[in-house]
Amino acid sequence: MPQKVTVVGAGHVGATTAQRIAETNLANVVLLDILAGIPQGKALDIWESGPVCGFSSQVIGSNDYADSADSDLVIITAGIARKPGMSREDLLATNARIIASVTKEVTRYSPETIILVVTNPLDVMAYLVNKLSGFPKQKVVGMAGILDGSRFRSFLAQELGVSPQSVQALVLGGHGDTMVPLPRYASVGGIPLTELLDPEQIERLVQRTRQGGAEIVGHLKTGSAYYAPSAAAAEMAEAILLDNKKLLPCSAYLEGEYALNDIYMGMPVVLGGGGVERIIELKLTPAEQNLLLQSAAKVKESLKLLEQLELF
Ligand code: APR
Repeated sequence: MPQKVTVVGAGHVGATTAQRIAETNLANVVLLDILAGIPQGKALDIWESGPVCGFSSQVIGSNDYADSADSDLVIITAGIARKPGMSREDLLATNARIIASVTKEVTRYSPETIILVVTNPLDVMAYLVNKLSGFPKQKVVGMAGILDGSRFRSFLAQELGVSPQSVQALVLGGHGDTMVPLPRYASVGGIPLTELLDPEQIERLVQRTRQGGAEIVGHLKTGSAYYAPSAAAAEMAEAILLDNKKLLPCSAYLEGEYALNDIYMGMPVVLGGGGVERIIELKLTPAEQNLLLQSAAKVKESLKLLEQLELF
């Protein structure tokens, strides 16, 4: 039987993610939203591209969680997107209430599923889904590091005049201004980045990466990024559906790793059919560890705001 993926939220990120997953031919897709007609229309439109794009996945739109029953993977993108001047944290209260209601329905209809959280502020929303679902920590994972890493890799490739595919880079920490790009772990065709660019050049691109989401919001004015975010979510979905155990930076629940506890943050993980199958602990320098702790402190501040909402 084909696998089943439900994407909750049929907005920019959700619809694009549904399209990308349908195009992989790996699963049938249910696109779900509270707005009547929107998921149905978008799903039909995506499905009708199948003969041209060469996929045979079913794609249906719905406003009823019964249609999501027994999903193998649920991707949550429901919520409001950022507008200019807003930080990801500004979305917290509104999106937390949306995520709470979504989690209740998702767990009711798909008690065995893996949940991939995309809604911002990402690390806080993943934490909330973890607490409300009662799922094992491996089964709730957040999308952030692949997106941040992809932005960093794009900027590095442009600076060096090489194919983006030659560039590997790792971004850890919270998905916000305190994210922790790790130039020491970046490489270009196997050559350490630090041998190809000087520290000032790297720092400029690190800063652009930290502001990558805001840069897009600044252009769009009415919403936030969705092409790169959906590409990142689809890569994670593929790793889970194929059980291919890709090593990817994802937001995962930490219990002592990197000296952090009871928090979701971006870490290198092995992602497979079981969800987050392993967290890889790197030997960070004191300066890198310090940046990670600062990032964690920022996420913890947001978790305090979350607790005040008394949703769990
Ligand atoms: N249940 C289902 N869908 C909902 C709910 C809900 N309770 N509340 C809102 N939605 C839907 C909206 O109707 C809308 O179609 O979520 C969708 C959000 O779509 P957009 O406004 O286009 O936002 P998008 O750009 O997709 O971003 C969604 O992803 O990357 C993050 O920061 C981004 O948190 C934001 C989320």
